[in-house]
Amino acid sequence: MTDDRVVLVTGGARRIGAAIVQTLHEAGMRVGVHYRGSKNEAQALAHDLNHNRDGSVCSFQADLSDPGAPEHLVTQVVEHFGRLDAVVNNASAFYPTPLGSVTEAQWEELFATNLKAPFFLAQASAAALVVHDGCIINITDVHADQPMRNHAVYSMAKAGLVMMTRSLARELGPAIRVNAVAPGAILWPEVPMPENVKNAIVRRTSLRRQGTPEEIAKAVLFLIRDATYTTGEVIRVDGGRHLYM
Ligand SMILES: NC(=O)c1ccc[n+]([C@@H]2O[C@H](COP(=O)([O-])OP(=O)(O)OC[C@H]3O[C@@H](n4cnc5c(N)ncnc54)[C@H](OP(=O)(O)O)[C@@H]3O)[C@@H](O)[C@H]2O)c1
Repeated sequence: MTDDRVVLVTGGARRIGAAIVQTLHEAGMRVGVHYRGSKNEAQALAHDLNHNRDGSVCSFQADLSDPGAPEHLVTQVVEHFGRLDAVVNNASAFYPTPLGSVTEAQWEELFATNLKAPFFLAQASAAALVVHDGCIINITDVHADQPMRNHAVYSMAKAGLVMMTRSLARELGPAIRVNAVAPGAILWPEVPMPENVKNAIVRRTSLRRQGTPEEIAKAVLFLIRDATYTTGEVIRVDGGRHLYM
C-alpha cells in the first residue's frame, strides 16, 4: 500500500524513533529521518527502507538545541519532498537533575529538546501542514503528569509539551490536529540501571511487562492515519503504569 504523505520524525535513527520511522514507512508513507549524532544509524535505516521503495526516506542532521535549527530542518524536508503532512516530535534529552546540582546548561538542553524545539518545529511546519490537513504528534511521557524522582527538569519540560499539545490543538485547528503519545517503560536508558529497579518499575504496571517501541509506533500511526476526529489528546501507552504512580 502506498500513501503519498510525508512525515518528519525527529530523533528517528534509533530506539523508539526508528520503530516509528519503520512503522510509518510500512504503512506507505515517505519519511524524513532527523538525527543529531547517529549518522550511521540514520543512513543505514534510510538505505534499508529505500531498498524497498526508492526515494521514500531521506535523513537530515540537526542539533535541535541550536537557534534556528527547527526552522531550517522543516525547510530542508519540504524542499526535499515537496510537501509535509505530519511532524513527530520524538527527539529528547533525558538524564537526572538532582535538586541542588542543576546547571543552567542542563535546564537549557532538557527544555530545548523536549519543549522548545517541538514548539518551533510546529510553528515552522504549520504552513505546509495546513495544505493537506496535517498533524503533529508529540512524544511525551507518563512522567509529564507524575514527577519522576531526580528528574524534575525533564518532567517539567514534558509537562510543558502536554500543554503545548492542547494549546496548539486550539491554535492550529481546524486544519491541523495536534496529539501526543505518552510512553511508560519502553526501553531502559542506555546508562546502566540496576535489575531490581527495572523489576520494581515493571511490577508497578497492570500488564506486568515493558512496552515495545512498536507499540508506541502503532499509536503514532493511529493518530496520523486513523484518528481524524481527535485533537488535543494524549494517549498513554504505558501498560497501566499511571495507575500505580
Ligand atoms: N525509552 C522509554 O522507555 C521512554 C519512556 C517515556 C518517554 N519516552 C519518550 O519517547 C521518546 C523516544 O524515547 P527514546 O528512549 O527512544 O529516546 P532517546 O534514545 O533517549 O533519544 C532519542 C533521540 O533524541 C535525539 N536527541 C537528543 N538530543 C538532541 C538534540 N539536542 N538535538 C537533536 N536530537 C537530539 C538523539 O539523536 P542522535 O542519536 O541522532 O543524537 C536520540 O537518538 C522521547 O521523547 C522520550 O522522552 C521514552
